[in-house]
Amino acid sequence: MRKKFYITTPIYYVNDKPHIGHAYTTIAADVLARYYRQKGDEVFFLTGTDEHGDKVAKSAEENNMGVEKFVDQNATEFQKTFANLKISNDIFMRTTLREHNESVQIFMKKLHAAGAIYQSDYEGLYCRGCEDFYTEKDLAEGLCPVHKVKPELVKEKNWFFKLEEYLPRVEQMIESGEMIIEPASRKNEVLGLFKQGLKDFSVTRERVKWGLDFPIDSSQKIYVWVEALQNYISAIGYGRDDKQFNKWWPANVHLMAKDIIKFHAIYWPAMLIAVGLKPPQKIFAHGFFSLNGQKMSKTLGNVIDPNAMVEQYGVDGTRYLLLSQFPFGQDGDIKESLFKEKYNADLANNLGNLVSRVFNMIEQYCDGRIPKQLPSPIYLEMIGEKIEQLEFDEALKNIWQAIAKANQLIDSNEPWKMAKDANKKEELNELLSQLASFLSDLVPLLNPFMPDVAASIVGGLNADKIIKGEPLFKRL
Ligand code: ME8
Ligand code: MG
Repeated sequence: MRKKFYITTPIYYVNDKPHIGHAYTTIAADVLARYYRQKGDEVFFLTGTDEHGDKVAKSAEENNMGVEKFVDQNATEFQKTFANLKISNDIFMRTTLREHNESVQIFMKKLHAAGAIYQSDYEGLYCRGCEDFYTEKDLAEGLCPVHKVKPELVKEKNWFFKLEEYLPRVEQMIESGEMIIEPASRKNEVLGLFKQGLKDFSVTRERVKWGLDFPIDSSQKIYVWVEALQNYISAIGYGRDDKQFNKWWPANVHLMAKDIIKFHAIYWPAMLIAVGLKPPQKIFAHGFFSLNGQKMSKTLGNVIDPNAMVEQYGVDGTRYLLLSQFPFGQDGDIKESLFKEKYNADLANNLGNLVSRVFNMIEQYCDGRIPKQLPSPIYLEMIGEKIEQLEFDEALKNIWQAIAKANQLIDSNEPWKMAKDANKKEELNELLSQLASFLSDLVPLLNPFMPDVAASIVGGLNADKIIKGEPLFKRL
């Protein structure tokens, strides 16, 4: 039977347009989705938008727009951007979809029926930017450590989830590897959170208007994080289509950055266990990157629009530039100044030149036909394992080393000299046949990262007559 692979990105807040942070996680997930599809697995790839809560409602207000129109507009921006980046998602989840609400209602009733929620008064410090409560000790000089703003004191009657009751089980699942958290450093961070002490948390909000109804108490809306996490099961028909749900759940990987790991690695599995569902198999939290050494933020005005990058570097160029700058699991810095340099060196020169040289020589010296069937003389390391371990920058480095070797092979053999010597015709035919095989071997390796480039190499090789054609990457 075919293996199934269910991968998710976070669903992003629609308080604003997408930026390269959102593109980064989604491109990485797309590489995995394309890789597993190519391997023959049956893949379900989810991305989407998180559309309820105060933060989104406030942004709509600031933009002088009705909230429904506002979320539609920004959700459309995310969809367009992901299409522009050639993201091959199977579903685009929106928490304003009717089906999502249907599943959430069922899930919340189950939580209640299981005795996992109770009513209580709550007073706490709330950061709207995080949509999360903080205690004094979490704050940095009285401010939210992420948004650097003073949290509001919120006093409400809320419904609470008995997190504390489920903590030992979640901790044990993480320690035993029943639920995998990667990279290992992140697993340790999460285990550290259990030691610091975690408290029951409220799953409803009294003041919030823009949210899903809480089926147990009509004075309350469901806390945005609680329903947003459920998108991972509502998307596959939880409570509505058991066959579909049982086929895909548990997710193979929830992918995200480390900023939201607590919700995914602790709250979410605890809620799942409470209703008798399995936790996700793996949670992978990659690093957070700064841009040109600075935090990327709207206030600083240094946010990069992925669509602008596509315009400048092409789809595949953008995908390459974002994934190749620093190791995926670690924090890093995206340096804009390196974009052009890396684009010209790695893409226009190294890869682009190789393809155009080989095609051009086959056109010139072999009448556009690959003379023989010969294997590639260049060893291509199997990068599958690196991709499966989400070491994207390493996988790309390996591919580019092989590309450099192919270019060296051409430089050292000087086929343009062979072409002038009738005695070297056979040798020239062999060299070009081998290089054509190398390009053909390269295709499945490049394909998950750079689907358009892979397709144009295949197209070029399979043409009745191979020609030099347009460059894959125009030099900048
Ligand atoms: O947290 N570096 O949505 P969000 C790396 N709606 N990744 C980055 C990044 C950066 N500088 N900036 C953003 C939410 N990201 C919730 C999620 S899920 C049920 C609900 C990426 O719009 C990264 O994937 O704030 C991060 O986890 C995510 O955007 C946060 O997106
Ligand atoms: Mg955020």
